[in-house]
Amino acid sequence: MPLAAPHLTGIRGLSTEDIELILETAVEFKDVLQRPVKKVPALRDCTIANLFFENSTRTRLSFELAQKRLSADTITFAAAQSSVKKGETLLDTVRNILAMKVDMVVIRHEHSGVPHWLSGKIKARVINAGDGLQEHPTQALLDAFTLLERFGSLRGLRVAIVGDIAHSRVAKSNLELLRRMGAEVRVYGPTVFMPSGLQEAFGVPKPSPRVADALAWADAVMVLRIQLERMDTKYFEPHEYRSLYGITRARYEAAPQKPVIMHPGPINRGVELSSDMADLEGKSLILDQVENGVAVRMAVMFLLGSKGALQAPTPMY
Ligand code: CP
Repeated sequence: MPLAAPHLTGIRGLSTEDIELILETAVEFKDVLQRPVKKVPALRDCTIANLFFENSTRTRLSFELAQKRLSADTITFAAAQSSVKKGETLLDTVRNILAMKVDMVVIRHEHSGVPHWLSGKIKARVINAGDGLQEHPTQALLDAFTLLERFGSLRGLRVAIVGDIAHSRVAKSNLELLRRMGAEVRVYGPTVFMPSGLQEAFGVPKPSPRVADALAWADAVMVLRIQLERMDTKYFEPHEYRSLYGITRARYEAAPQKPVIMHPGPINRGVELSSDMADLEGKSLILDQVENGVAVRMAVMFLLGSKGALQAPTPMY
């Protein structure tokens, strides 16, 4: 069964059936990744361009490795070393890359909405690798996969998202996906980092600044970095944040049940998450998330690339 969605621009663009299909397919690719030969010929006729207009470690390497495991041909573009610096527009950059016969584009961009906009302009499949404040769908999918691996089901699972929700595309994709899959989600952190309309948009209870309550309530706590690069402030004090809102060992030990700890990375150790919590044996799922990212991204690209639908979903212009 193919994906109904022609692109992956956000969790909002996926049906629940599409989400389930991606997660089920990722289980099969995770099996492939345990074999001595971790490679399949699934996308050997597919050329994929990774367009990163914003910094990345995990997402870019994970997509690149997933493409190699699927036998796709790939090119990677980093804006900092490109002709974007000479004034070339985004559309001209992408048109030039597509002229090299590219079938699929993985794009990260600092502006919200760029992957969706691009999907209406070009013939290639588009995958959002993180757009501004809006969505990071493959992160939410790999988070869901990791929770499913640990708990067996998302239905009724209590997930607390803690920290800078306002500037987090990871939070928004997770709120949409987890709620859709039947999890119970609550958000915690400073009021200043809570976007207006959060409760109405995602059906969550009123956000709470009491992170100790998150640890006491949740089966899983997703910790978020404070995204200073998206703010215009000189007044953030990391030590103050840690003392008021940090997920620390002392707070964790005081919690009656011991939730698992997740973080999309990069971590600012000692700020939102103490080092001993980031590395807590048996409870920190942070490196499981990274491992699962490869299988999940293989599933997404396989399902989009093998639709035989690499013809134009929309006209070029
Ligand atoms: N989780 C995540 O998006 O990490 P990178 O910014 O390193 O890709």
